[in-house]
Amino acid sequence: MGRFSLLTGCLTGGLGLTAALGLVFLLATNHIRNGRNEEKDLLTLEDFEDYIMNNVDPQSIRQFLRNLTTLPHLGGTEEEWQMSTLISDTWHQQGMDEVHMVPYEVLLSYPSKEVPNLVRLVDQDGGAAWASAPKQKPLYSPEESNPDIPFTFNGYAAPGNVTGDAVYVNYGRSQDFKTLSEKGINLEGKIVIARYGKIFRANIAQMAEDLGAVGLVLFSDPSDYAPEGPEFVFPRSYFLPPSAAPFGTVKLVDGDPLTPFYPATKSAFHIPMAEAPIPTIPVQPIGYEDAWQILRYYGGFPAPEEWQGGLNITYNLGPGFFQPGWKLNLDVNNNNTHTTTYNVIGVIKGRVEPDRYVLLGNHIDAWIFGGLDPNSGTAAMLELSRVLTKLVKEKGWRPRRSLVFCAWGAEEYGIVGSLEWTEQFGKQLADRAVAYLNVDMAIEGNYTLRTKSAPLLYQFKKGKKNVFLFHKIPNPDPEETKAGRLTVYDTWALRKPDPVEPNSPLMQFIGSGSDYKGFQHNLGIPCMDTRYTYSDRTLGEPQYHTLYETFALVDEIYDRGFHFHKAVTVLWGYITLRLSEPEILPFSLDAYATFISRASNSILEKYGDLISSQNITMDYFTAAVRRFKSTTSAFWNSTEKLDRENPLAVRHVNDQLMMVERAFIDARGLPGRPDYNHVVTAPSKNDAYSGTAFAGLSDTLYSLQVAPDDLRADLWVTFSQHLAAVTHALETASGVLTDELW
Ligand SMILES: *[C@@H]1O[C@H](CO)[C@@H](O)[C@H](O)[C@H]1NC(C)=O
Ligand SMILES: *[C@@H]1O[C@H](CO)[C@@H](O)[C@H](O)[C@H]1NC(C)=O
Ligand SMILES: *[C@@H]1O[C@H](CO)[C@@H](O)[C@H](O)[C@H]1NC(C)=O
Ligand SMILES: *[C@@H]1O[C@H](CO)[C@@H](O)[C@H](O)[C@H]1NC(C)=O
Ligand SMILES: *[C@@H]1O[C@H](CO)[C@@H](O)[C@H](O)[C@H]1NC(C)=O
Ligand SMILES: *[C@@H]1O[C@H](CO)[C@@H](O)[C@H](O)[C@H]1NC(C)=O
Ligand SMILES: *[C@@H]1O[C@H](CO)[C@@H](O)[C@H](O)[C@H]1NC(C)=O
Repeated sequence: MGRFSLLTGCLTGGLGLTAALGLVFLLATNHIRNGRNEEKDLLTLEDFEDYIMNNVDPQSIRQFLRNLTTLPHLGGTEEEWQMSTLISDTWHQQGMDEVHMVPYEVLLSYPSKEVPNLVRLVDQDGGAAWASAPKQKPLYSPEESNPDIPFTFNGYAAPGNVTGDAVYVNYGRSQDFKTLSEKGINLEGKIVIARYGKIFRANIAQMAEDLGAVGLVLFSDPSDYAPEGPEFVFPRSYFLPPSAAPFGTVKLVDGDPLTPFYPATKSAFHIPMAEAPIPTIPVQPIGYEDAWQILRYYGGFPAPEEWQGGLNITYNLGPGFFQPGWKLNLDVNNNNTHTTTYNVIGVIKGRVEPDRYVLLGNHIDAWIFGGLDPNSGTAAMLELSRVLTKLVKEKGWRPRRSLVFCAWGAEEYGIVGSLEWTEQFGKQLADRAVAYLNVDMAIEGNYTLRTKSAPLLYQFKKGKKNVFLFHKIPNPDPEETKAGRLTVYDTWALRKPDPVEPNSPLMQFIGSGSDYKGFQHNLGIPCMDTRYTYSDRTLGEPQYHTLYETFALVDEIYDRGFHFHKAVTVLWGYITLRLSEPEILPFSLDAYATFISRASNSILEKYGDLISSQNITMDYFTAAVRRFKSTTSAFWNSTEKLDRENPLAVRHVNDQLMMVERAFIDARGLPGRPDYNHVVTAPSKNDAYSGTAFAGLSDTLYSLQVAPDDLRADLWVTFSQHLAAVTHALETASGVLTDELW
């Protein structure tokens, strides 16, 4: 059993005096106890951190990424299986204690192999005057010409061949549809064309369907993704080329559509296909060069100023075309298919508490090659597992708690593999899982770090014990280092500042949209999702889900040298150790209490008068918020006296800490949303970007403001019921932190 080198100087600039004091404190208290290692008193978290920093190798990450991006590997395909096998073989070779392949039989969707999905302009005689590209044009890497690349499609878009007048609906948000209806433009029987980027495409499809549209065509506008014009696009830059047509799911409900709430195992009951929560209209993405071919012939009303995009034409709304008798035809030949997708689970068994899990994960499947999404994240995960298993082999080290590495199947279809898993193992996970750390992409740009997190994990930014983890990672950006910002934290604080605490970076609201959904929102396991992200020059990462999201995009444009990947990998490792090693779970109860009081104040400020107009009292709710704050503070005070040599006493405190997030889970779900159970952190359904907590309350209040009079009474009943449920959850969260039951 070797001895670790003692703390060395990875404490680069930006580390203030308080942080340094915090580290001294950690050195004094966080020695690994109860271990098999005889030299346990010499091992500190910092020693492990040094090991990770010194061993994570950018070239190794690069090689993993190369191997993960050779083939198109859509969820549920033979190629996804090959990638699952690559991951499981790698974990076996690395020496994981256990590796499991977990299959689910699910409903996924594919384009036809023979008949492409096309958008056509049909002339007055019914002939096709023009048709869109069946596939995206190869532009740079040899693999872009792989004959197995599927025809361009959206996952779960209904098959159909519809012809009609077309209407341009801007970003397809509810306010856009409202504008059209105010102009008297009816969407009944129309094919709508929307620019993608402001909201989830499945929401656009749902709204279009609800308004009677018979089809939806999506394109990414150059003003949003190619701001420097068609000359300066991929491969010359990272901006979107005209032929790019991003894939993506149009299913709204997460998980396998045929087995809601239960795992898609062999014994599962399948609801009829007709009841599956998937669109009934065809939907199809096209490149902006193809959108131009359609929009330039558009007649009808001129589109409002803000609806004009970056194409070199005037955008009209339609309906219909300048040429008399011309129509738009949308021909979609997708097929919903029963298939099997696999999760790969690798375990490093814990030394002291093997039945407590720190989970790390990312998905396997990609919309084509997945250079960024997901494989930048998976390459980071395989590198982290390589380094941690090496630590086990070389040093005889084991984490205090088990580390569970998860590679999920079919995430791109709407979080399928991970959600089925959290459904299958939900009770055990709710009992045993400490936290889930997701890295869906290690990078989607190199501008700044971006972290979404449950408030319980906020302390990794700046917390009770001053664990300034993000200060310890040297800045991977040479320009930033030159400018004196020596750490990841410095650039993050500058480029994503927290509006409430200036000079400090923003830990974003957890939201949804990746594999942490089941953990955070159904089981109440605190989650974090971390990546390097893009600047605000574009609406999203331009090549996202396109053919051009290849290895070369990463290797030659975004991260030459893979230093950004290393930064994220090391950070992921550090946070993993901070959750797996300390005797007492380092949950930021105080940050959670602050988060909850702010959210409660914001509801009262915004809606207090509206609520009191109904004679509904918020007093019980605000009292429960206050009690949570005082309980959390008393709880930490009581742990100061804890006998840390007593395993039962330590376990007792940790059990209470783990119950806090679970206390916010309401088995019945949020109002009208049985698939979201967490009453504090669920994303808002009306206002997904606002980051308000208590979505069940704020969404109902929002609906009350816009609802017709005859629906108000019911909505107030919904509000009162949910307010009582939330108040009860808050009381429970305090209750689980106290020893007395009554
Ligand atoms: C990548 O694939 C090659 C060829 O199959 C293999 O030799 C190599 O070990 C793999 N490397 C990694 C890091 O997976
Ligand atoms: C769909 O309709 C168009 C226009 O009527 C027609 O040209 C095309 O052949 C049809 N596609 C299929 C697959 O039948
Ligand atoms: C306008 O844009 C389209 C699509 O990008 C392009 O094909 C066309 O050449 C452009 N026309 C002019 C006059 O710039
Ligand atoms: C859909 O897929 C199933 C299973 O792969 C296949 O049997 C069927 O022929 C396909 N249908 C169409 C219309 O392509
Ligand atoms: C960061 O990405 C940009 C493209 O967004 C690229 O031009 C630049 O070279 C990258 N920087 C580094 C250090 O890799
Ligand atoms: C609220 O209470 C006041 C005083 O009792 C009463 O006049 C008013 O009608 C009540 N409003 C509602 C909406 O119940
Ligand atoms: C916890 O301890 C702090 C500092 O000793 C003290 O200020 C605070 O009042 C205590 N909180 C409770 C609820 O006992």
